[in-house]
Amino acid sequence: MEQYIIRGGIPLAGEVEISGAKNAALGILAAAIMTDDTVLIDNLPDVRDINVLLEAMESIGVHVDRVTRHAVMMNSKDIGDVSVDYEYIKKIRASYYLIGALLGKYKKAEVPLPGGCNIGSRPIDLHIKGFKALGAKVTIRNGFIIATAEHLHGSHIYLDTVSVGATINIMMAASLAEGYTIIENCAREPHVVDVANFLNSMGANIRGAGTDVIRIRGVESLHRTEYSIIPDQIEAGTFMFAAAATKGDVMVKNVIPKHLEATTAKLLEIDCEVEEFDNAVRVVASKRLSSTNVKTLPYPGYPTDMQPQISVTLALARGTSIVTESIFENRFKYMDELTRMGADVRVEGNTAIISGVDTLTGARVSAPDLRAGAALVIAGLAAEGITTIDDIMYIQRGYESFDEKLRSLGAEIEKVNSEKEAMKFRLRTG
Ligand code: EPZ
Repeated sequence: MEQYIIRGGIPLAGEVEISGAKNAALGILAAAIMTDDTVLIDNLPDVRDINVLLEAMESIGVHVDRVTRHAVMMNSKDIGDVSVDYEYIKKIRASYYLIGALLGKYKKAEVPLPGGCNIGSRPIDLHIKGFKALGAKVTIRNGFIIATAEHLHGSHIYLDTVSVGATINIMMAASLAEGYTIIENCAREPHVVDVANFLNSMGANIRGAGTDVIRIRGVESLHRTEYSIIPDQIEAGTFMFAAAATKGDVMVKNVIPKHLEATTAKLLEIDCEVEEFDNAVRVVASKRLSSTNVKTLPYPGYPTDMQPQISVTLALARGTSIVTESIFENRFKYMDELTRMGADVRVEGNTAIISGVDTLTGARVSAPDLRAGAALVIAGLAAEGITTIDDIMYIQRGYESFDEKLRSLGAEIEKVNSEKEAMKFRLRTG
């Protein structure tokens, strides 16, 4: 079983290039099937979630040509089957974006109901509410969501909870519905805007993405496009906190600073220096960090996907910090692992009280989910001694070449497959 092994205590220094945004790419790849023309998508991150979604799309008849590691040419005129196999949705929840895309284009879709995952129950009732409002009949049978419609018509939809997935899924289906759709209380994340811009580049008529009201005038069909995915603001933020936690000096390149405002604000609050450039940010942490309080919120608030990364950093700050997770009900599971590294943390419901300690010590820990796994890597980089991380397949779902990028910043980290390889690492770095 692959593991990361880390010898901590080295301040990260240098430059790192950020890949394309996984959560934008997942929606954009699904939306690409809504035209029978050929579509070229660039700046794709080479991560497991993307590669699995491409396999799921090939399984229903999409022609996928991986032109390069980061670019794909797709054509969906021969989609024969609108039923996605369970094995794909088991691996990646976001296959449910295929419902909105298939329903919009073919007026029918059959996709397995996604299960929960490690951070919470993850319902999709708002997606279903939107599809029904557009005129679809939606039933759940044998673990599948089956959505069909004679035709889709515009509607005025209010999302009870701000939901990235529901916003994107409904936006896709409404793009080919007859008439005018208004979606209220929308998610405003950069990846929602990127999917809207992608659809508009194919001839859709979507206005207001990035605000809490999106207006869509349905069109007859969508056409070819070439599109490049935005940089991944969560990957960028992860490296920014890795610089902070290791008292490093890192230039994070290929970013959109505006997408990082909440993260940058928190780094400044805990006494890091952050310098912004057109498409880069530099994070320098030269002194002991200070505590602060954080509450995760929908964008532009502090992102839930950056909650584990700031929490492990605050575990080493001077003073006590309070972190409140308001989006998902089970996103502090990693705190037990962090405690084993010497952190002083108490979790009460959706709040973690973190009392900073002088040092963390390396330990063998397990990644419970994607972002918590990345955060435990940050903890290992900052800790004294050796940290071994199990279940790194979670991390590989969303971080391209994670260990390579960290090594380029001076980190002593390797992916190992055996105790022998781990021993060689210990001897080499000891
Ligand atoms: C997206 O998940 C991201 N995943 C998540 O990132 C991210 O944490 C989340 O948005 C919030 O930003 C992708 O984009 C693939 P939501 P999503 O619908 O769309 C509730 C990562 O690390 N809700 O915005 O599933 C839900 O329970 C992943 O890359 C309903 O009640 O999240 C949650 O409390 C982890 N009913 C809240 O809304 C619904 O129908 C926000 O969820 C849908 C959601």
